[in-house]
Amino acid sequence: MAEGPISLAPLLERIGGDVDRLFGLLLTVPGDPRAKLFEAMRYAAIGGGKRLRPLLVAAACSLFHVDRQRALRVGLAVECIHVYSLIHDDLPSMDDDDLRRGKPTVHRAFGEATAILAGDSLHALAFEVLADEATHEDPFVRTELVAELARAAGPSGMAGGQMMDLAAEEMTLDIAAITRLQQLKTGALIGFCLEAGGIMGRLPAEGRRPLRGYARDVGLAFQITDDILDIEGEEEKTGKRVGKDEAAGKETFVSLLGVERARQQADLLVGQAIQHLHGFGAEADLLRAIARFAVERDH
Ligand code: IPE
Ligand code: IPE
Ligand code: MG
Ligand code: MG
Ligand code: MG
Repeated sequence: MAEGPISLAPLLERIGGDVDRLFGLLLTVPGDPRAKLFEAMRYAAIGGGKRLRPLLVAAACSLFHVDRQRALRVGLAVECIHVYSLIHDDLPSMDDDDLRRGKPTVHRAFGEATAILAGDSLHALAFEVLADEATHEDPFVRTELVAELARAAGPSGMAGGQMMDLAAEEMTLDIAAITRLQQLKTGALIGFCLEAGGIMGRLPAEGRRPLRGYARDVGLAFQITDDILDIEGEEEKTGKRVGKDEAAGKETFVSLLGVERARQQADLLVGQAIQHLHGFGAEADLLRAIARFAVERDH
């Protein structure tokens, strides 16, 4: 099938601007002692990151002609969970990082207690946004979004994967265990982005299968690339410290397979992800382009 020449950079920039504006509206700094908490949330959430998850939500929703503003709210909700996960991931008790999205991590800039609360508050904001009528008029659709995001964020999703990731510093894991870890830690939220398209588009369960297959492969390829960038990437481009995984003795695809075979694996997964979209025409070209970007990126 012919693929349109899609340049992701302007699309990521546009959705980034939209996400920034919505965060700006939602996070008005109050004139009371909570101001520092709001400042920390704004610092973490506004003006940084690739915004890949909101773009994935928008791309999946556009397949089913979902209103862009509504898709944006769902994209913002998943970005809330993502940013909260990054704030907590960077804490001294976790990866102990001092640089994120090209600036000091939230706990470095605001202190550890405020960073924890900013993460907690972004976590809550995600569900507040989904539960609002402006996201969808049908309460059943809103409930399904809330339930799916909760599952993707919790112990059977991102948080569970982060727990396994801590264990990966202490023990040797095989490929199957690393795959499961990465599917939870990174894949679950990416899976939500595609699932959200099916939910907002009111797709029957059967129709969601190709999107689930795509998300599974892209999520894994995305995290393998993150692990490769930790070795081969540049701090000026990634906006975060590199060489951290090896220093922590963390088991990843790259530590098990080496960079070259890990890259081959990621490329294979992208091919597979694109295959899952064979039933779609040009309307899925954006998803195809995002799959390639997941592995070709340098940041
Ligand atoms: C980094 O995610 C953490 C992972 C789950 C791999 P991103 O690479 O999407 O980070 P931002 O949002 O662009 O900062
Ligand atoms: C973290 O994975 C994924 C999250 C759920 C936050 P990493 O620890 O590898 O992410 P980076 O490299 O710090 O962005
Ligand atoms: Mg981590
Ligand atoms: Mg980290
Ligand atoms: Mg990493």
